[in-house]
Amino acid sequence: MSALVIDGISKHLSGVKILDNVSFEVQEGEIFGLIGPNGAGKTTTLRTIATLLQLESGQIRIFDQKLPEDAGEVRKIISYLPEDAGAYKNMKGREYLEFVASFFSRGKEAGEMVQRGIEIAALGDRISDRVDTYSKGMMRRLLVGRALMSKPQLAILDEPSSGLDVINARQVRHIIRQASDNGLSVLFSSHNMLEVELMCQRIALIHKGRIVAAGSPGELKKSYGAENIEEVFTQLVRI
Ligand SMILES: Nc1ncnc2c1ncn2[C@@H]1O[C@H](COP(=O)(O)OP(=O)(O)OP(=O)(O)O)[C@@H](O)[C@H]1O
Ligand SMILES: [Mg+2]
Repeated sequence: MSALVIDGISKHLSGVKILDNVSFEVQEGEIFGLIGPNGAGKTTTLRTIATLLQLESGQIRIFDQKLPEDAGEVRKIISYLPEDAGAYKNMKGREYLEFVASFFSRGKEAGEMVQRGIEIAALGDRISDRVDTYSKGMMRRLLVGRALMSKPQLAILDEPSSGLDVINARQVRHIIRQASDNGLSVLFSSHNMLEVELMCQRIALIHKGRIVAAGSPGELKKSYGAENIEEVFTQLVRI
């Protein structure tokens, strides 16, 4: 089964066409990367899938739910990590996870969810500190913990490792891979071409609101006679 099918979505914002007939498919259990230059439409695509932007034309299916009609059901099976996410600064890391878990369930189940979030965030003792004392990387890890602790079926992660140092970025990649090994389907955006090549079974490149290439890293490199995905990217966005 496909985790996600996007079929011909277009979107205007402030009268400007931002997405132009975007189509791609994420298979169940796959890690799929969406790449493209600044302003290409990655966040707009992810926000539309996450039901935060209204679908204007085209169709989106997530497992067996369709947008826009099944938006309520879709929200139960996805989780979305925004590119500019923050957490409530006057809460401690653990309290923030507890707060979010309370929207999903109560009692033992909520406790287990928080525990999972704490393990994923891997902040050690600092989980008991206030969020406003966290570095950018610590905050990102807390938010990745928040996004994955509810065991979603599809995680939509907008630049999950953005701004992280080498070690933290590796850790976040490891967390995502581990979740994927346990059956999670992942759609994420990134500006790190090495990361995308390392992580993704398949990639789509969006440029000026249109998907200009899609395939496995191997297929893309072969098609464009490139040694790596950065070269593929450079060739395609020059057009
Ligand atoms: N609310 C809005 N009103 C008008 N234009 C918008 C709005 N939100 C985004 N845009 C425009 O849509 C285009 C796509 O933006 P989007 O944030 O999807 O790009 P992106 O690929 O995520 O870029 P980045 O790599 O910088 O995060 C940009 O030209 C942006 O200026
Ligand atoms: Mg973006």
